[in-house]
Amino acid sequence: MDDTTVDETGLIAAARAAALHAHAPYSRFAVGAAVLMTDSSVVTGANFENASYGLSLCAETVALATISAQGRLREVAAIAVIGGAMDADGRPTGTGPVSPCGRCRQVINEAAQMSRRDLPVLCGAAEGDAVRRYTLSELLPDAFGPADLGIA
Ligand code: THU
Repeated sequence: MDDTTVDETGLIAAARAAALHAHAPYSRFAVGAAVLMTDSSVVTGANFENASYGLSLCAETVALATISAQGRLREVAAIAVIGGAMDADGRPTGTGPVSPCGRCRQVINEAAQMSRRDLPVLCGAAEGDAVRRYTLSELLPDAFGPADLGIA
């Protein structure tokens, strides 16, 4: 990415910490997202389920909605996500990297458009060192975006 150094280990650690606050009593699958900002600060989110199941909010969406509410979408530099099945204490488990769902990819695209960056997306695991590295355009090629609406 351009001018912001990504501390991958630190960003995944922040996502893991965020996942401890997942409200996921229905799926018992905890997800954490950590968004690196251009000033090196980090904004986090965790999945926030509700009894409807289908209207639950994903971790990435929670983090990016927080950033939007702070008026900081232009400052987004990278995003990390981790997740896993909760153990009895509510901690995510497992060594397999988690990828953003389709809806989250579209939400990340909005931040990518606003920040004018092909955002790095780090897909980490709840435990262990496995990480898959993408840019958003790899995860969501030919994205529908503001240009399709005639908005520059
Ligand atoms: N989930 C996320 O938070 N992010 C994703 O990208 C994939 C799925 C959440 C939604 C739901 O609370 C749980 O994981 C199981 O699908």
